[in-house]
Parts: sequence; structure tokens; C-alpha cells
Amino acid sequence: MTASPPICDYEGSDYQTSFWERGGRAYEDQAEAIALRRLLPARGNLLLELGAGAGRNTPRYTGYERIVLLDYSRTQLQQARARLGDSPRYVYVAADIYKLPFRDSLFDGATMIRTLHHMADAPQALRQVRRVLAPGAVFLLEFANKRNLKAILRYWLKKQAWNPFSLEPVEFVALNFDFHPQAIRQWLTELGFHLEKTLTVSHFRLGLLKRLLPASMLAALDGLFQPTGNFFQLTPSVFVRAKVQQKGIFSIPKNVLEWFRCPECATYPLQAHADHLLCPTCGRKWSAQNGIYDFREPLNGG
Ligand SMILES: C[S@@+](CC[C@H](N)C(=O)[O-])C[C@H]1O[C@@H](n2cnc3c(N)ncnc32)[C@H](O)[C@@H]1O
Repeated sequence: MTASPPICDYEGSDYQTSFWERGGRAYEDQAEAIALRRLLPARGNLLLELGAGAGRNTPRYTGYERIVLLDYSRTQLQQARARLGDSPRYVYVAADIYKLPFRDSLFDGATMIRTLHHMADAPQALRQVRRVLAPGAVFLLEFANKRNLKAILRYWLKKQAWNPFSLEPVEFVALNFDFHPQAIRQWLTELGFHLEKTLTVSHFRLGLLKRLLPASMLAALDGLFQPTGNFFQLTPSVFVRAKVQQKGIFSIPKNVLEWFRCPECATYPLQAHADHLLCPTCGRKWSAQNGIYDFREPLNGG
């Protein structure tokens, strides 16, 4: 198989419970909900949620008719499926963002929240996202901002070696990256996106404030400050709304099976069998069992 960058593996992780439900992050979660409400289009056809995890944000994508939840971790998708259920509105896909198993120009929307954070080769990941987006599609990207106030102060006080002002990503823990807002803008622009809006999120991510004030109050205050992101970004988290500039007509096939392409040789359509999809060109078989299409490793080996 073609080599692709390393993956931060969430298989078997209890991330949703330990980080969100028991991790004291109600404020961050509510602040993100406010940002998403501001950035999401009122209506859309087919949304790709990249790094969907356990589906924490999925119920917020109310305007979209159908949503593809994509994650490398099958257990995260199982948790999402248990939470959201098996409705024709949701399609669960286990795959690597660097090798998206979809035809070009398929989706009219995509979100990537708290996921670019794990991309060792962010431009390559963003190139894949751009490939599967249709003309005029909207892409909501959240990224961890290396040029945040805390990192700047720590750098000036010589408590942190890396420079928050330099453009390259910083890997502060293995496979966890913070990005410079200017680098993100540059990558998106080079890929043909027009940046429509930027919101800064989590202005008050401080233990003391979170203990003193209710999460809903902090999140409402955060909401007041989020639009300043259009002018400067000093928060740990930044949301961008980018639009594919290209104009053109596209149509979304009604049959889900026509959405996929072989992640290894790019052939489509794949042939449907009882428990797998077969690539007619390279012969790889991709599992389609228990409500999850799995494009990570072929059933019959690489
Ligand atoms: C921090 S979690 C965020 C989950 C969700 N977006 C949220 O905000 O609650 C990051 C997710 O990205 C997924 N992920 C990391 N690298 C990936 C890759 N190369 N391809 C697909 N998913 C990936 C992980 O499995 C994990 O579920």
C-alpha cells in the first residue's frame, strides 16, 4: 500500500467520556456549539464529518439532509452509532483522512473539529478534503492555535522553547500539533478556498475561571468575543469557514454505494457484495459489516 503519514490511534479510547463528559469541559463544548451555529449554512445536502469521533458534534449539523461520519477508529464510530442510531441520515465510514474513499467533488459540506490537531502532514490532509468537496461547498475547520496568549507569555518568560510566532506546526506531544493561523490561511487559499469567517473560541480556558463561573455563562461570554477572530487570533482554538471558490454543477448520487472509490487505486464504482465492497480493478475487498463501511485494511490483505 502507498505509505501515508502516521495516525493517532483512538481505537478502544474512552475519549468521549474521559475528556468531555467527566473532563470538566462543558464550557469548551458549549462555546464550540455557539461557533458552529454561527458558521453552519442553514441548509445542505451531504456533509462529511472528518474525525467524527463519538459523534459529539453530529446532532448540531441540523441543516444537512445526510451526514457521513468518518473516523479511523472503529470503536469511536460504534459509540457514535450507539448515540445517533441507524437512520438513513447517517453513514458510518472507518477510513484514513489521508486516503479518503470517496469520489471527487461529492460533498457540499465538511467539518473537521479537533482533528487537524493530529495531522502530521496537514497540507496533505487538507488536499484530500478539497478533492472530495463540490464547487461552492462549505468547509468548517477547527485548528489548535500555536500563537495563543498563553504560549506567547510562556515564550517571553522563557518557560517554553518553541516560538509561537513561527509558521511551522509544533508537535508538543507525539502526534498532537498546534498550527499558526497564517499557515492555515495560506494552505486553504492555495487549495482554492475563500476564507469567509474566522472565530476565536475558548477565550476563557482557565481552571480558576471555570471553577468560579457556570459553564453556560462563560460560553455566552465566549460567544461575545468569538467574532474578534476575524481581526486577530490569540485563543487556543480557532474556527474557520472556508468556501470552495470554483463554480460548477454537481449532483449527489442517491445510492450510497456510488459515493465510494477504492482508497488504494481510486477506482469507482465499487461492486457491492453481501458483506463487502469489491474493487474491480485491484481486487481489494473492503468490509461493509455491522453498519460500518471499513476502508482501513482490505479483507484480503494489501
Ligand atoms: C480529538 S478527537 C475529536 C473527535 C470529534 N471531532 C470531537 O470534536 O469530539 C480526534 C478524532 O480524529 C480521529 N483521527 C485521527 N487521525 C485520523 C485519521 N488519519 N483519519 C481519520 N480519523 C482520524 C481520531 O480517531 C479521533 O476520533
